[in-house]
Amino acid sequence: MVEYSVSFVLGTRPEIIKTAPVVLECARRGVQAEIIHTGQHYSERLDEVFFEQLGLPPSSCNLQVGSKPHGEQTGEMLRKVEQRLLETEPEVVFVQGDTNSTLAGGLAGSKLDTEVAHIEAGLRSFDREMPEETNRILVDHLADYLFTPTESAAAELRRENIPESRITVTGNTVVDAIERYGKVAVIESDVLDRLDLESGEFCLLTAHRSENVDDRKRFQSLLGGVDRYARRIDVDIIYPVHPRARKQIEVFGITVPETIRLVEPLDFFDFLCLENEARLVFTDSGGVQEETCILGTPCVTLRYNTERPETVHVGANCIAGVSPSEIVLAGEQMDGKRGNWEMPFGDGRASERILDTLALEDASASEVEGRHRRGQLVSSEKQY
Ligand code: UD1
Ligand code: UDP
Repeated sequence: MVEYSVSFVLGTRPEIIKTAPVVLECARRGVQAEIIHTGQHYSERLDEVFFEQLGLPPSSCNLQVGSKPHGEQTGEMLRKVEQRLLETEPEVVFVQGDTNSTLAGGLAGSKLDTEVAHIEAGLRSFDREMPEETNRILVDHLADYLFTPTESAAAELRRENIPESRITVTGNTVVDAIERYGKVAVIESDVLDRLDLESGEFCLLTAHRSENVDDRKRFQSLLGGVDRYARRIDVDIIYPVHPRARKQIEVFGITVPETIRLVEPLDFFDFLCLENEARLVFTDSGGVQEETCILGTPCVTLRYNTERPETVHVGANCIAGVSPSEIVLAGEQMDGKRGNWEMPFGDGRASERILDTLALEDASASEVEGRHRRGQLVSSEKQY
């Protein structure tokens, strides 16, 4: 039986992207790591394409849970992740973010009394209607190691009485990902040519959140607002459509305005290029709010709250909601504000800090065996 020192439980596009730098840092340090893929995302454009492009080893364990109602999906993941952890006995189970896969991985580790490490801890939208809010709160309260992207996320955990000894401010691993892949993306991506776009002369849109796209009126309102702004400034909008949104466009029979060009979900390099070259980005994605802030592109968020308030505080993001008039106002407010802000998500060394905290460096067989006993991992409270 192969013994893994750490297991990464992941299942969706953003988890693959933001976990990749930590997995690769494990490889650099000789730490044994396994990726346990829940199979929450399975379409090639949401899954495999990222493993290949980011240079991740293919997952040796895909639980193939797929799309299901939340309870059934999370329950099946929990059962299957537990089974795998019993076989491999890792020292630490890593989860990232706030998806159902994150919750299942965290719960499975916790039930087995295995150390649980939560990457991107401490985010709160204060909106319990979002399934992600429940997931992140539960995982934060069961995790042994909480790696926060910012000081304010750490402050939130302290407010919730999570012991200081569990909290480490590391920065967001997406900064590590952009540092690692950003330059290559510019060289390798031909997305501007392929889509016949000029830098700064188009806007980018992503919308996939259930509260937006599963509600017909809300989805139409959001598309109508973005269309109105596009016509006002006479640019096209590129919308790489998440399969959930694609399905809902068909179910509702929505006629998408002509200014909005629907394209398939893009790979990470193409998407980074579009985020970088867009005049403005409209989104309901958490990750896209961060990446636009990092890349210096102004962002309008099509939601009524955000768990990334730092992007708003530094002036990179405006929370517009989904009413057309508010979207147009926010577009006008953000247009032209390129990169004039302080970047709040760290220095691109989050993965190093995460592994330093766990003291998993250069794990030789005997060291691994020695540390297998719970409680012997070293915790530090490095801050920057
Ligand atoms: C999930 C996460 C969300 C995250 C998003 C990232 C939860 C509760 N939600 O939402 O937080 O922002 O991933 O993209 O964990 N589908 C496919 N192919 C796939 C996956 C999904 O066609 O590979 C379709 C199916 O019709 C499915 C629907 O998309 O029913 C929704 O998928 P699901 O994984 O349930 O939620 P996401 O909307 O992707
Ligand atoms: N992304 C991508 N291709 C796309 C759309 C998004 O590679 O067509 C990437 C984007 O760069 C970011 C992540 O997917 O890193 C965001 O994922 P998503 O919006 O699905 O989830 P969220 O961040 O809202 O949980």
